[in-house]
Amino acid sequence: MALRAVLAPSVIAADWASLGEAARLAEAGGADWLHLDVMDGHFVPNLTLGPDACRALRRASRLPLDVHLMVARPDEWLAPFAEAGAGRLTVHAEAARHAGRTLARARALGCEAGLALNPETSETALEYLWEAVDLVLVMTVSPGFAGQPFLRGVLAKVERLRARADRLGWPGRLAVDGGIDHDTARLCRDAGADTFVAGASVYRQADPAAAIRSLREALEDGDGKARGGAPA
Ligand code: DX5
Ligand code: ZN
Repeated sequence: MALRAVLAPSVIAADWASLGEAARLAEAGGADWLHLDVMDGHFVPNLTLGPDACRALRRASRLPLDVHLMVARPDEWLAPFAEAGAGRLTVHAEAARHAGRTLARARALGCEAGLALNPETSETALEYLWEAVDLVLVMTVSPGFAGQPFLRGVLAKVERLRARADRLGWPGRLAVDGGIDHDTARLCRDAGADTFVAGASVYRQADPAAAIRSLREALEDGDGKARGGAPA
């Protein structure tokens, strides 16, 4: 089977006056998912998109909506985003008080369930949750803003998660989010990531669709280490 990385452009880095256009550019560039960063001003020091924006993007795009909930009370937001067309609901380990229950609820709502780990959160947060998650989102910046520099120290955690996931035969996706560009995407791929969220390196470029294509080329270049099967 051909190995293929999943690319998920993050629309918060796009021109907010034209989010529909951002979705169109993602499709034109061959993106697999559209990543929506939901920030509540409590869990992170910023405010972004709510369910209405998600609903509008659902209408504007055929791509699966990958909703990243950076909110203090994720349980309250699962149903509104599921109803607004989310395909995947990712909650933060640091915010989910009963993470197993929250992840099960995301699946019961018909979505895939993801667990995000801040840079300083240990991978041991996953220890009893592997069967409950379809995606692990490793933050490679402190969440809150697009355009921050990649934290190299997190690569070792990606490697440990990959090793553990392989030992368990876990079938989910291992994603990285924050400061992902050509170079850092390749570092993450080599550490075992198979799914790449990218904001500034796509939408703060002159030609976002071309930027997605060139990120794909960088990941599929040469050594055949791109991981994962066909995009879910
Ligand atoms: C950070 C968000 C990221 C961000 C990525 O809090 O979760 O998804 O939009 O943007 P870049 O790729 O610019 O770091
Ligand atoms: Zn994100």
